[in-house]
Amino acid sequence: MADSTQLGDDRGDIVVIGGCGHVGLPLGIAFADRGCRVTLLDVSQAAVDMVNRAELPFNEPGAHDMLKRAVCDGRLVATTDATAVSRAATIVVVIGTPVDEHLNPDPGAITRAISANLSHFRDGQLIVLRSTIYPGVTRKIEQLFAENGLDVEVAFCPERIAEGRAMLELFSLPQIVSARTQRGRSRAAELFSALTDSVVELRPEEAELAKLFTNTWRYIKFAAANQFYMIANDFGLDFERIRTALTHDYPRASDLPAAGFAAGPCLFKDAMQLAAFDKNDFVLGHSAMLVNEGLPLYIVDRLERRYDLSAMTIGILGMAFKSESDDIRSSLSYKLKKILEFKAKRVLCTDPHVTVDPNLVPLETVLAEADLLVVGAPHAAYHELRPSQPVADVWNVFGAGVVV
Ligand SMILES: NC(=O)c1ccc[n+]([C@@H]2O[C@H](COP(=O)([O-])OP(=O)(O)OC[C@H]3O[C@@H](n4cnc5c(N)ncnc54)[C@H](O)[C@@H]3O)[C@@H](O)[C@H]2O)c1
Repeated sequence: MADSTQLGDDRGDIVVIGGCGHVGLPLGIAFADRGCRVTLLDVSQAAVDMVNRAELPFNEPGAHDMLKRAVCDGRLVATTDATAVSRAATIVVVIGTPVDEHLNPDPGAITRAISANLSHFRDGQLIVLRSTIYPGVTRKIEQLFAENGLDVEVAFCPERIAEGRAMLELFSLPQIVSARTQRGRSRAAELFSALTDSVVELRPEEAELAKLFTNTWRYIKFAAANQFYMIANDFGLDFERIRTALTHDYPRASDLPAAGFAAGPCLFKDAMQLAAFDKNDFVLGHSAMLVNEGLPLYIVDRLERRYDLSAMTIGILGMAFKSESDDIRSSLSYKLKKILEFKAKRVLCTDPHVTVDPNLVPLETVLAEADLLVVGAPHAAYHELRPSQPVADVWNVFGAGVVV
């Protein structure tokens, strides 16, 4: 067994497994910014190469300058070489945990990633699970290390940032910290005290549910707004006018969100992880999924009542899953596109931020050639537009009164 006294301190030498992803990279940059030595371990050679050139593989406001400083100062390096694990005091695991095409979670994802590198782990290390995990995974990982004779502390410390706000929220949100032992919790709390003053301790199973509840709560709130939107719209009324009025100086309703596509890499899949954990008996979660995932179908249905789509070119403005993002993972704009491609003569898609889709066309082409527009993501760039064609505008980008 390796000598744990050779390890650095918890806040000194950190390896982030999955370190070039949407969560791992901002986290690694944040730790490096606070003086830690960070190695980002990732299976994507392309992402590793970009990070080592101080380039971001995706857009995250505020991250680029901090990345450049950290790479230049030698405090942050990316690698595909798993031997880096053996030199770190702290290993953070933040690989993706998606659900599959049948909405099943993959409770083995973290176990497989750690097992593949098991020979590099050493006694005395702090292992921080940061992915959003299926309840019970923390215990599985504890057992994995114990069965392999490794004396490590396992902590589950969920990430709760929103993409696009990472470099603010990593330094301001309270950090939920959990571990089986007080020593594990204290080490994890000490680690995250480099980033935030506010640490909340839970037991691992409580923390696993806390993270799933956080995302599912948000998903259900969006579903309520979207259902209200459909009710108002079917009655010929403008939901946003109603929402603005009912939330005005009325704190008990101030958290009613606007309507819009609610999807992306986290909310949908975490609601489905929780549903699977609840033996598929999660009525509220499944209902939220049906409402949110049904919104593109609702819009197309409403359009079909008014227009002969088969004779029309439809333009979709915004393909990312949310405003100002370049992330198209689980974006409902693509579901909308698929439905419209079946119904309409032609579909043209545009997005000022998305770079990974070669089928996108410039905004000018969409505005010149589309007979009808649908807003997919409410990017700021669209707010000043005054399109001449009709717009299906669930996001209310073009102001009150524009309903499907
Ligand atoms: N995206 C968000 O805003 C957000 C917010 C909070 C929590 N989360 C959670 O964080 C986790 C990661 O999400 P993400 O959006 O960063 O995913 P991602 O796909 O952007 O990043 C995962 C990274 O892990 C790498 N990877 C995959 N398998 C690996 C392995 N075996 N070894 C090393 N690297 C590996 C991938 O190449 C990728 O770079 C998920 O559990 C997610 O639910 C995400």
